[in-house]
Amino acid sequence: MKILILFASSRNNGNTRKALDAVINGHRPEIIDLAKKNITPYDYHNRNRDDDFRKIAEKMAESDIIVFATPVYWYTMSAQLKTFFDRFTDLISIRKDLGRRLKGKTCYVISTGSDSELPPGFESPIAATCGYMDMVYKGAFYCPIGKDGTFAPDGKEKAKEFAEKLFN
Ligand SMILES: Cc1cc2nc3c(=O)[nH]c(=O)nc-3n(C[C@H](O)[C@H](O)[C@H](O)COP(=O)(O)O)c2cc1C
Repeated sequence: MKILILFASSRNNGNTRKALDAVINGHRPEIIDLAKKNITPYDYHNRNRDDDFRKIAEKMAESDIIVFATPVYWYTMSAQLKTFFDRFTDLISIRKDLGRRLKGKTCYVISTGSDSELPPGFESPIAATCGYMDMVYKGAFYCPIGKDGTFAPDGKEKAKEFAEKLFN
């Protein structure tokens, strides 16, 4: 199975990266840091058609499993991930051919936050967007992380359980 991780935090060595590393644990999936890419907000005139979005969408089309890794920022996904999701509009307009190739892909979320649970409705836009693109959303691994960077007591165990879905 080819696994693609789309990492979408405002820092590349913070809590979300730690949670991701706990899941990966020696495996070597491809990881793309969306914050390092040139992905601009959706443009009705598609003047950004040649930025990095298309190349990453191509990578999604070549993968079996796509994992969106995002912190909770203000009760929702990071701006990097939302900007990326908005660009799926390109895939149902100027790049329908590429959009169709996402059909059947399995998607997951890895997320971290300071609260003990994901905010209500956090997964709804992700699940609905995956559904719209004919991808299959299979749920989130959420790891609460304290201010000092410590995982919730069962965080490591849950990361292992989640990893089995990806790598087995
Ligand atoms: C801008 C901002 C907004 C945040 N909003 C929330 C929130 O709504 N709920 C929550 O549980 N944690 C919130 N947090 C805490 C982060 O989700 C948490 O520290 C997360 O693990 C940070 O991951 P990172 O190091 O990859 O950025 C927020 C942090 C920031 C910086």
